[in-house]
Amino acid sequence: MGRAGARYLVNQVNRERDQFRASAASYGTCCDVRLPTVIAMTATTSTAAATTSRHRALKLLLPAFTAASCLIQKAAPAPESGSTSAVVSPVADLRPAAEAAHRRVGTALMSGRLDDPRVRTLVPRNFDSLTPENEMKWESIEPAPGVFSYAGADKLVAFAAANGMRMRGHTLVWHSQLAPWARSLPPAELRAAMVKHIRAVAGRYRGKIAAWDVVNEALADGPSGELRGDSPFTALGPTFIDEAFRAAHEADPDAQLFYNDYEIEGEGSAKSEAAFALCKRLVEAGVPISGVGLQMHVDPRHWPPAASIQRNMARYAGLGLRVEITEMDVPVGEIPGTLDQKLQRQREIAHDIVAACVAVERCTAITFWGLTDRDSWLEDPHWGALRGRGPHRALLFDGAYRPKPIVLGVLDALAGH
Ligand code: XIL
Repeated sequence: MGRAGARYLVNQVNRERDQFRASAASYGTCCDVRLPTVIAMTATTSTAAATTSRHRALKLLLPAFTAASCLIQKAAPAPESGSTSAVVSPVADLRPAAEAAHRRVGTALMSGRLDDPRVRTLVPRNFDSLTPENEMKWESIEPAPGVFSYAGADKLVAFAAANGMRMRGHTLVWHSQLAPWARSLPPAELRAAMVKHIRAVAGRYRGKIAAWDVVNEALADGPSGELRGDSPFTALGPTFIDEAFRAAHEADPDAQLFYNDYEIEGEGSAKSEAAFALCKRLVEAGVPISGVGLQMHVDPRHWPPAASIQRNMARYAGLGLRVEITEMDVPVGEIPGTLDQKLQRQREIAHDIVAACVAVERCTAITFWGLTDRDSWLEDPHWGALRGRGPHRALLFDGAYRPKPIVLGVLDALAGH
């Protein structure tokens, strides 16, 4: 579909939603009780006749839900011109669905997003777990030796506490977004700085962070199965990981401690096997590791099947570890077809991955890496290029804060369908 086609589709969706809103208003529906049933109104390349019949069918259904439904989400703002995602409406919230499935569902945010009232409404309704997208990373939180900058992280922690959400800490030891001063230290000094950093940051948030990504992305891409060559921590030798976990545990004994990485989701690749071997070694050495974080930045061009992901989760569970999906997004740019087909495929992919987590008892949480398509790190051309051509539309809500079909896939999987 070309740009003109996409624009037509968007206009079509907006028209349908406006008609819908008018119908809902005429029935005086309230928004305080959640609709238990999800009705999908996916945007398709529909004919006018199909649109009319769908509209009519929904009109017929409306009176049945009048007392206990919210046909238009309270948080849904007026459509923004130029927004380009198919939307579903109405749709149940994710948080209660995840609670029913005994799973956490999370999002990652920059603290500045909390200034937007739409974010403050949408997030606690849909998520019970929060990860700082950037503001707990070393370069942000300890930009100079012993100089800490906690304001952004504190704002997120306070918001989570006020809304009964748990907090994930991300991340203590990572080669990327590492403060330049630390990167340039010789190995012995870097080791000391690492331990100090962990003690300071994990200690400050003691009791406030449920789970820390203690070490992030230590392993190399490709076939080596080694620690990555572009990390200054690698020069410390593999036991820097053990030390980092021990320091974090001392600083916050009740926090769950995770090893977190990408492209370790399915079985069989050198990196995935190396991650499993690493976690197994840590468990056997008595290092206080609680779990593994599978980032789940899906690349639809080549991604392991959900069955392989599930088996991988299960073998970590077999070590006594928890598993969390920590940074999920499903970019659609390289999925073939029309916008609607891309979004339906996104829905299926997300469904199957969440279902894999639901099938493994110790897979306890699913965090999405951002809230709306506009916030996604893949909107940055530098990062987006990792996933081929955009637009990626990788997240649950579109730029106008409206739920996309992917939400239905996640809800279905949480419900065991
Ligand atoms: C990303 C952030 O989303 C971006 O804003 C930032 O510019 C780069 O980092 N793996 C991780 C995350 O563990 O911390 C990364 O977050 C995405 C990949």
